[in-house]
Amino acid sequence: MSASFEFNKVAAAVLTAGIVAMGAGFVGRGLVKPHTPEKNVIGIEAAEGTQTAAAAAEPAAAAIEPIGPLLASADPKAGEAIAKRCTACHTFDKGGANRVGPNLWGIVGAKHGHAEGFAYSDALKGMSAKPWDYEEISHFIANPKAYAPGTKMAFAGLRKAEERANLIAYLRSLADSPVPLP
Ligand code: HEC
Repeated sequence: MSASFEFNKVAAAVLTAGIVAMGAGFVGRGLVKPHTPEKNVIGIEAAEGTQTAAAAAEPAAAAIEPIGPLLASADPKAGEAIAKRCTACHTFDKGGANRVGPNLWGIVGAKHGHAEGFAYSDALKGMSAKPWDYEEISHFIANPKAYAPGTKMAFAGLRKAEERANLIAYLRSLADSPVPLP
């Protein structure tokens, strides 16, 4: 009798412990639950927010990374291949003709609208006090219409910084004495 009583006590204790443990589990999950999804929601929102901001900023000139640091390791030969996309409108040789676009010999360091006898848009004429330094050329080539609204250069733009660096390294080589690298 006393053994069975003892057994009941133990069973009750085990049961109680189980209920307490379950209760703790519920309470525990109850406490954790509202936090976990909250964190996830914030995390997802933050990631989406960043993406949206980056996408929205993409056409803006401000989003274009500096080209200077890429020029030291840029490849003018690869740039010459990319320049084939420009030859429909531009010549690159010394004394070459203006076509749809102006001749580009010696363009790095030259003033905006540098070619004699070429009918530039008001957009580029308005910038004629500024030289084409590396960053200016990079911004223009990345997105001509964003850089010079109203430009006549009907070219969508080279978005990849590495391609622009190679191309600009090639443009730099088109001079009697190339401008020093930055
Ligand atoms: C569809 C024709 C076309 C293509 C393709 C084109 N351009 Fe042009 N480019 C022009 C025209 C037109 C102008 C004059 C823009 C103006 O007056 O607004 C110009 C102007 C420029 C200028 C300014 C020259 C100056 O004297 O100030 C640079 C630099 C230039 N282009 C580089 C390039 C490069 C590099 C490429 C190839 C990645 C390229 N362009 C592709 C038509 C083109």
